[in-house]
This record gives sequence, structure tokens and C-alpha cells, in this order.
Amino acid sequence: MTTTNAPSFSKVVLITGGTSGLGRSMCERLAATGHRVYGTGRQVKGLETLNAYHMVGMDVTDTASVNAAVALVLQDAGRIDVLINNAGLGIQGPVEDIDPELAHQVMNTNVYGPHRMMRAVLPAMRAQGSGVIINISSIAANFGLPYRGFYSASKAALDRLSEALSTEVARFGIQVVTVQPGEFNTNIATARLRPKQVSEAHRPGYEKAMEVLGGSMHYSRDPDELARVIARIIASPRPRTVYRVAEGVQKMSVLLKKLLPGRMFERMVRKHYE
Ligand SMILES: NC(=O)c1ccc[n+]([C@@H]2O[C@H](COP(=O)([O-])OP(=O)(O)OC[C@H]3O[C@@H](n4cnc5c(N)ncnc54)[C@H](OP(=O)(O)O)[C@@H]3O)[C@@H](O)[C@H]2O)c1
Repeated sequence: MTTTNAPSFSKVVLITGGTSGLGRSMCERLAATGHRVYGTGRQVKGLETLNAYHMVGMDVTDTASVNAAVALVLQDAGRIDVLINNAGLGIQGPVEDIDPELAHQVMNTNVYGPHRMMRAVLPAMRAQGSGVIINISSIAANFGLPYRGFYSASKAALDRLSEALSTEVARFGIQVVTVQPGEFNTNIATARLRPKQVSEAHRPGYEKAMEVLGGSMHYSRDPDELARVIARIIASPRPRTVYRVAEGVQKMSVLLKKLLPGRMFERMVRKHYE
């Protein structure tokens, strides 16, 4: 390991998608906490060292690129204690108008991407006999949100994958944690994938729902709030399986979904977006 004066609690942390939003905040916050941090970005070439942390070039949809980035971090730091699967894409559009190629793009980034990363780091974590994998899901994983069906589906799939993996790797001293953020102020909305065309039949409902979504006040939350929660998870000897970092109606809706009859909850969701 190349760091000689690292504090004793310092961990080697690899964060996918460190160029903006939640990932960049995590890089900054965890580096400031004393961890040895490696963020990733698709435009980064090889290994770059910034003031407080490192950046590695990597695309989660490309297995060779994932394996090369993980190998580079292992070579530089000697170990990976924490993997944070943060890189992700949003998608919007009526389910009927999303073609399979577009759907595959979001699943490839949000589900198969973390899967590639976990496969790449697990051998090293198993050999160490320790490790923490934090998968950044979304509060949207709990509901089929109108006109964001594939986003909800991708995050729900990631949650189930995390749950299953956790049962498989606990015996190796590896902990898997799911984090479901509510809405934070990042680039995710502008970067959302969209269908080329929205059909006439779906346009009124879609446009209204997007207007409601765009006007959501929750987008003002500072990404550093989430980064602080991540720092606490890393410091915890026994982290929970799921953390919901949301407030107000978003958090309450998870409980309501458990309590209300299915159609009643569905009507509530529809009413919110109409
Ligand atoms: N913001 C929210 O309200 C919110 C709420 C719930 C969950 N989340 C989740 O939080 C995570 C971070 O989102 P964000 O809000 O911070 O969005 P963001 O600002 O758009 O950042 C997305 C990050 O993902 C990276 N990325 C995208 N596609 C990639 C790929 N194929 N390979 C490698 N990296 C890729 C981007 O890096 P490049 O520089 O390479 O493009 C960027 O660093 C996502 O998983 C998102 O679903 C966000």
C-alpha cells in the first residue's frame, strides 16, 4: 500500500461514478474523513491523482474496462476494503414507448454494471476475509413509478441482487449494504435516457407526470448529506442491510405501500402525478 501516514481507520474505497453528483460528494467526503479513495469516470485516462483522492478510467458497461480498473486499484493500494456501486443512469418514458435497446442500456448500467464490479472485487475481498459492498439503489426501487418504470425496475433488481449476494458472502466476512436515496440535487435528471418519440396516447399523462417530477422541491437536497451517511456506514462494524436516505412523503410512501391495499396505493401514486 502506497499510503504510509494513513489514519488507522483508513479504508481503501472504490466508488464508481466519481465525476459528478453523489459520487463526487462521496469521493470528497470520504477522502476528507481519512480514507484512501478511488473514484471512476469514463473520460478519465488510466490513474489520475487529484488533491485528495484518485480517479480511474472505467465504464461499468464494459467488462474489460471494469477488470482493468479494479486491477489498477489493487496494484496501487494493495487491497479494496469498500466498493460503492454508485454509477447509474435515469430513464423516463411510458413503458410502451421504451424500446428494448434503451431498456437494456439502463439495466446494463444500473444492474449488470454493479454485477461486473462485484465479480471483479470479490476475489480480493474473499482473500482478505473482509469487505463492504455498498450498492446505491433508490427509494424508487420500492414502487413502480409512472413513466420511470425501467428506473424503478433496475433499482429493484439491484436490491434483490444485493440481498441474495449478502447471504452468499457473509461467510467470507463481506457485508453487503443497500442505500436508497430520495431526491438529491445532481445531474441525474438532465442525463436521463428518453425514448425518441412518445406516442400520442401517452403524451398527456407523461407530460403532466414529468411536470410534477420537475417541480419536485426535494431536488434541492445537498449530495453531501448522503455522503455523510455513507461515511457512517463505512465506520459501522455492523451496518444495516438497507438505509433509506429520504424524507417526507418519499419515506412515508414506503410504509404506506406496506399498509394499504394495492389498488388504493396505486390510486394515491396516480393522483400524485396527475
Ligand atoms: N440524485 C438523486 O436524486 C438520486 C436518487 C436516488 C438514487 N440515485 C442514484 O445515485 C447514483 C448517482 O447518481 P447522481 O444523482 O449522482 O447522478 P449524476 O450526477 O448523473 O452522476 C452519475 C455518475 O455515474 C457515472 N456513470 C454513468 N454511466 C456510467 C457508466 N456506463 N460507467 C461508469 N460510470 C458511469 C457518471 O460518470 P461519467 O463521468 O463517466 O459520465 C457520473 O459520475 C445513481 O446510481 C442514481 O441512480 C440518485
